[in-house]
Amino acid sequence: MNVLGIETSCDETGVALYDPARGLLAERLYSQVRLHADYGGVVPELASRDHIRRLLPLTREACTEAGLALRDLDAVAYTEGPGLAGALLVGASIGRALAYALGVPAIGIHHLEGHLLSPLLGESRPQFPFIALLVSGGHTQLMRVGAVGDYELLGDTLDDAAGEAFDKTAQLLGLGYPGGPALAALAEQGTPGRLSLPRPMLAQLEKTGDLDFSFSGLKTAVLTLSRQAPLDAQRRADLAAEFEAAVVEVLTAKCLAALGQTGLSQLVVAGGVGANRRLRATLTAAVAKRGGEVFFPPPALCTDNGAMIAHAGALRLAAGTTAPSGLGFGVRPRWALDALSRPVLADA
Ligand code: KG4
Ligand code: ZN
Repeated sequence: MNVLGIETSCDETGVALYDPARGLLAERLYSQVRLHADYGGVVPELASRDHIRRLLPLTREACTEAGLALRDLDAVAYTEGPGLAGALLVGASIGRALAYALGVPAIGIHHLEGHLLSPLLGESRPQFPFIALLVSGGHTQLMRVGAVGDYELLGDTLDDAAGEAFDKTAQLLGLGYPGGPALAALAEQGTPGRLSLPRPMLAQLEKTGDLDFSFSGLKTAVLTLSRQAPLDAQRRADLAAEFEAAVVEVLTAKCLAALGQTGLSQLVVAGGVGANRRLRATLTAAVAKRGGEVFFPPPALCTDNGAMIAHAGALRLAAGTTAPSGLGFGVRPRWALDALSRPVLADA
């Protein structure tokens, strides 16, 4: 079954062809980072227009690489939400029109479900049930995943998402957009602990087992420290290192607690911040110490991409989720992942 996956929820146009029997057949990704860099963040209207320019040429390229013609497609999966409304509409309208013309099903996918299931595209794969840590620019959530479509929210951020905290702190340190990878690179030149930042919500975890997160105070604490003394190169790097260490320590403690509270042993990490090297190393060591295992998507599939959407679409269709027919469609810019919770498949 050849599934075309389309991702246009934010500033990346992603396209991929996936066949459950043969795996990933071809993938194309166009990042709009340079388009938005001058503005310090994503400009929604520019994002939508660029998705329109890129989507069909990328789809043609992916089909050529996979040796497939459009008529060889068996289904089209596209990101239905959450994300920027205009950007989502580009993928949804092109995906549904293409499927309608080809007479194949078109299925709208939840962007976070795409991230969540993407470790199943890796070489070593988790088995249901598992705990998932979703850490992206817009979300920081801990989920208990029982099956495809069975998602129980255990913890959420009360304010900024982890990726958002990375991006805003990077901006405070003058690193520009996108900040996460730049801040992580700067952190490698510094030493955590030389400056001291709080570990938000760790006290609540110890007292009540609370699995929620809060990262906005961390950004304010960085601002305060950055004003206390001249920010020379070493102090900037130390501040970046301490910030990264604080985020990683909180995420790690909450993941361990989620595993402990549910009695599960497998942890899946998904979303852009999952590319962070310190997070990967710390989580892997901490979970191994208690006899569990951590699964990350292949690094290239941590940030937004079409492969995770094609893959989630294939799993959904295999599980019997029906794709609406006809040309009418909508997108869901705001869409809670646990609203999807309806067990449809025990194992993938
Ligand atoms: O999942 P994603 O590509 O897009 C969303 O759906 O949000 O995640 C993007 C987020 C951004 O906030 C970016 O700064 C962050 O992931 N990010 C990182 C790293 N790479 C990407 N944060 C920390 N360390 C990284 N290496
Ligand atoms: Zn994402």
